[in-house]
Amino acid sequence: MENELQFSKVELFTNCLYTGMMLKGDLYSEDGTILFPAGQPLTDEVLKTVQSKNIKKVFYNRPLLASETQKNPMMTQQVLEKAFAVSEDIGYAAIKKTPLPEKEIEETVEQFITMVAKAEKGALLNLIEIMDYDEQTYVHSVNVAMIAVLFGKLLDWRREQTKMIGIAALLHDIGKILVPKEILNKKDPLTAEEFDIIKKHPIYGYNILKSQSKFPEPILKVALMHHECYDGQGYPLGVPNEKIDYMAQIVSICDFYEAITTNKIYRQKFAFWKAFMMIRKNMVSKFNPRFAIKFINKMPPYLVDKALFSIGDYVQLNTNETAEIVQLSNVETLKPSVKIYTTPNGEPLKYPLQINLEKEEKRWIETIIDDQKAIEQLKEMKA
Ligand SMILES: [Fe+2]
Ligand SMILES: [Fe+2]
Repeated sequence: MENELQFSKVELFTNCLYTGMMLKGDLYSEDGTILFPAGQPLTDEVLKTVQSKNIKKVFYNRPLLASETQKNPMMTQQVLEKAFAVSEDIGYAAIKKTPLPEKEIEETVEQFITMVAKAEKGALLNLIEIMDYDEQTYVHSVNVAMIAVLFGKLLDWRREQTKMIGIAALLHDIGKILVPKEILNKKDPLTAEEFDIIKKHPIYGYNILKSQSKFPEPILKVALMHHECYDGQGYPLGVPNEKIDYMAQIVSICDFYEAITTNKIYRQKFAFWKAFMMIRKNMVSKFNPRFAIKFINKMPPYLVDKALFSIGDYVQLNTNETAEIVQLSNVETLKPSVKIYTTPNGEPLKYPLQINLEKEEKRWIETIIDDQKAIEQLKEMKA
């Protein structure tokens, strides 16, 4: 049935349970006996019961949200479910200070790679939207891992290298598990003190991976360095360009893209073209331009359902001039050829000026004009 709530069965090792843990479905044992009801913090008592009965594994049914059950052109439901179950296991292991489920993590990323190998245009159109507060880091991490694996494929990387960045992306925010939820889920702007706490998650993450896994150093470096900036103004180390591990430079672009194109608790998502534009704008200061350009030029067909721009779109340039797109670029997605109709002050030019933005260092598209009145005015000007 269309609206019937669907569930995914989540398996948990009992040594991953902890007091205060909240589950979205009733907790039950292998034979189906309900051990604890959903939506309430787990008590010491129930933990003791589970231990005394020597139960090794327990289960709960996690409701799937509509967006998750929607057909994703690239990922099958089965792969996504597994990815979420693994993400939850990662979270539990991090909290419990037990070894991370390395084998499951590798299997999940292997599955991503297999799916991505078959990816066609529009493959990652439906990034998964957040389900609820507790899951936002998991969902974000699964999305970033899918984007990173896809990018690895488009860069013609070897399978092993793609696998490495996929694992690193899936684990990049693991340190957030140690940041209080009230801060992570805060709707209002963060105070300086709160932001200082958030800024610790890369170091927390690095330490978790170092002490609770055998993953190699490049994966640990992504957790540590994904908020470093190309100009050295990032955190926690504040190191510039080559000092930032190249995989961290790439995950940082995927991370940024995911963060601004999905709805978050604290803000609505941005339009696709704007996201790419922001990556372009932050190139050099925030991102390695070499990777940023490749991301902008190779990824849109897979992430966006139509071209970022169309011929006939009216745009405003950074110079405040208004223009119309007259030819798309095969080389640089964000730099079509345009016909400029007005001066920076909005006065009509006597003769429209056609330029190729690929060849213009100091002019770029700032925004697409979608105000109908402004468009009508421009059309009149054109006539
Ligand atoms: Fe992060
Ligand atoms: Fe992130």
